[in-house]
Amino acid sequence: MSQATGAALVQRDKDLQPPLYAKRDIALVRGAGVTLWDSDGREYLDMMSNYGVNILGHAHPRVTAAIHHQASTLLNCHQSFASDVRVAFLDKLLSVAPEGLTQAFLSNSGTEAMEAALKFAWVATGRPKIVAARRGYHGRTIGALAATAEKKYRDPFAGVLAEAAHVPYGDSDALFEAVDGQTAAVVLEPIQGEGGVHLPPPGYLADVRQIAHAAGALLIFDEIQTGFRTGTWFACLHESVAPDLMALSKGLANGVPVGATLMTAAIAGTLEGGVHGTTFGGNPLAAAAALATLETLDGDGVLAHSAEVGDYLIGQLRGLEHPRIREVRGRGLMIGVELKQRATSVLRGLQERGVLALMAGPLTIRFLPPLIITRADADRAVAALVAALG
Ligand SMILES: Cc1ncc(COP(=O)(O)O)c(C=O)c1O
Repeated sequence: MSQATGAALVQRDKDLQPPLYAKRDIALVRGAGVTLWDSDGREYLDMMSNYGVNILGHAHPRVTAAIHHQASTLLNCHQSFASDVRVAFLDKLLSVAPEGLTQAFLSNSGTEAMEAALKFAWVATGRPKIVAARRGYHGRTIGALAATAEKKYRDPFAGVLAEAAHVPYGDSDALFEAVDGQTAAVVLEPIQGEGGVHLPPPGYLADVRQIAHAAGALLIFDEIQTGFRTGTWFACLHESVAPDLMALSKGLANGVPVGATLMTAAIAGTLEGGVHGTTFGGNPLAAAAALATLETLDGDGVLAHSAEVGDYLIGQLRGLEHPRIREVRGRGLMIGVELKQRATSVLRGLQERGVLALMAGPLTIRFLPPLIITRADADRAVAALVAALG
């Protein structure tokens, strides 16, 4: 293992990989609860949880114990064999799923969960086209990228992407115009994340379901970022609208890579052996971590706590009425603070003050903290934001 610390470690990390990510110039080496430490021993309040992944915080005792136990029992078990822990995880996940979603395909990441949802929609309908939303983000594999709107991600691959139309998010009339007899699925985030934390207007998700079904198309909700984070299990439950297919990942196993594509029995019935698959999907290690995560969310009142702290944090941010803040949007602990200036320097200012956050588009500071943050943590983040805004 490399012995380098601080700046040397950051440089080595850059030297060994292609320059695909905007680097933050610190090396994170340890975490506990809502706190992270860098290689120089500096402490940070984690208000981003690895892009929304560590929903129970770092080194959560129950998840850690489940990982230890499973690592010393059985790491891998291909889907051609049944697995005790996989079955327990699936039972738990499907017991909290929106109505009608009774089966799941397991994979290893968000984009894989979306890729599977799209493939299943193409197979189930026999139609080629998808309709998605502007500002939407669904991942970078070739199928998920077709649903993703951002030009800079799409343009290098334009020639190989599936047919997709992108309509303004929240505009039912535009969606109605775009969906036709060739549409396999309408694909949406029930709250847009990467695009800037945008909530759907009331009634929009119900309209979307009605429009899709009237045209014989399926509805796919991408809950990869919203899942578990908006004060309830899934963001679509706020609107009481269930999709036909739902993609999950990020927080599902509190940091162990996992993806899940939930579907109706009718869609599952159209899938034949060999149509899709993956070696690591449903591995016992991820299943054990996911089961421990879901049981903790269910048993420890974490979702109710996150709704309460989320309301508090949103209230505190709105109460600032800061001249450099245009709007505060969010639900639960998925929160965007749109600025009247570019967010990059403010993000860096937060980091310098020991608070790690994210951007969502060029103008928005995004908070996706672990669901276990306290009001005191929220206050610390707000104070750091005020200081970083100057
Ligand atoms: C809504 C949404 N869908 C899909 C993805 C892609 O997930 P992954 O990065 O695990 O492939 C993300 C990741 O940020 C996301 O936020």
